[in-house]
Amino acid sequence: HGTSKVNDNGRLEIGGCDVQDLAAQHGTPLYIVDEALVRQRCREYVDAFRASGLQFQVAYASKAFCVMAMCRIADEEGMSLDVVSDGELYTALQAGFPAHRIHFHGNNKTPEEIEMAIDANIGCFVVDNFIELHMLNAIAAEKGAVVKVLLRITPGVEAHTHEYISTGQQDSKFGFDLANGSAYKAIKEASSLPNIDLLGVHSHIGSQIFEVEGFTMAVEKVSAFAVDVRRELDVTFRVINLGGGFGIRYTEGDTPLQVSEYVKAITDGIKTFFSQAGYPTPEIWVEPGRSIVGEAGTTLYTVGTSKEIPGVRKYIAVDGGMTDNPRFALYESKYEAMLANRATEKATETVTVAGKCCESGDKLIIDLELPPAKTGDLLAVSCTGAYNYAMASNYNRIRRPAVVFVKDGQSDVVVKRESFGDIVGNDIIPARLEKEA
Ligand code: LLP
Repeated sequence: HGTSKVNDNGRLEIGGCDVQDLAAQHGTPLYIVDEALVRQRCREYVDAFRASGLQFQVAYASKAFCVMAMCRIADEEGMSLDVVSDGELYTALQAGFPAHRIHFHGNNKTPEEIEMAIDANIGCFVVDNFIELHMLNAIAAEKGAVVKVLLRITPGVEAHTHEYISTGQQDSKFGFDLANGSAYKAIKEASSLPNIDLLGVHSHIGSQIFEVEGFTMAVEKVSAFAVDVRRELDVTFRVINLGGGFGIRYTEGDTPLQVSEYVKAITDGIKTFFSQAGYPTPEIWVEPGRSIVGEAGTTLYTVGTSKEIPGVRKYIAVDGGMTDNPRFALYESKYEAMLANRATEKATETVTVAGKCCESGDKLIIDLELPPAKTGDLLAVSCTGAYNYAMASNYNRIRRPAVVFVKDGQSDVVVKRESFGDIVGNDIIPARLEKEA
């Protein structure tokens, strides 16, 4: 992927940096982000939309990996930003991300979050339900503001993906259902509320999707809805947001399309539909997360202990695990990895990579082919840029790793490794429990 290669010393190099040097300089576990590849992915989206001739916004779904340096890159690349909590919003604002290009998601925004976002003058709220719609209108009214809104609708399209991460089907906690008339009712109400400026609708059909069919089905349903609403309620959607979910290649078995192919399917579908209906084509927004940062991330570990169960399996343990990458434990996600300091050696063993947490399910990869790994070797797990740092925890009070951006032979720390101070920083011992001197 990207700028990764095996260098003349037989070691993995990313962004011109030898990973052995990165380990020496920054320690392990270490999240390494190939900045050039992140920027390339952003540009693939922007270029594909430019080619369509439509008005558009590409909002980076920051939930995949939200740190201030990443917000800076998204801004520099002309992206908008999707946030789903006050914490993500705060991160974006602290990084100086232009508020008018921030879109606020979530199925249970608190009044405090709504106030914070209105005060920051963000670009758009993606409203999920009736309670939120009315609360937003009321808070905006108190502040004398009119807020731009997309309504999230559940189009009833089930993406072909892992069941825990598909959200487009009808039995979902998200959005107004198209099928039972609740989306229609929401449009009617939203367009009558004085402090709501209804821009259009949003739909997200799932994640890690490899085909265009799910998107083209969603395009048809949402477009048909737009036409109905225009004819019956005289409400015109200026924006249709088709969410994220564009797949990436974690392992050889994964067969994602090119970014341009997904975008073309969406923009062609929209153009065809609206020209046939005889209406102008609305602006198209999308929200890719995983496909912007996933393949650009690599996690570097040091191999520690191992255990062989003759005739059953050999485990090798690394100095991280489910605390920095919970995706195997949560979804049985598959990853590829290599011995990064001996990258040209032949694989002769099949091992299971385990972490260091007190939990049997703390594994990263089952049946990985490797050269015989020794204590002190470096293991690089690829495609860990999305939903790894973002979902990391302090289970077992393990400190979260540092994150470095690498580019042109330079590595910059964008998140410091947590300290022991960070670990106990929020702990308080009540006076009655204090140890007597
Ligand atoms: N927009 C909305 C409304 C979403 O819910 C999501 C992801 C995205 C955009 C970005 O989707 P992406 O392009 O990254 O697929 N933790 C899971 C993924 C959860 C995705 C949640 N929503 C994982 O590790 O696979």
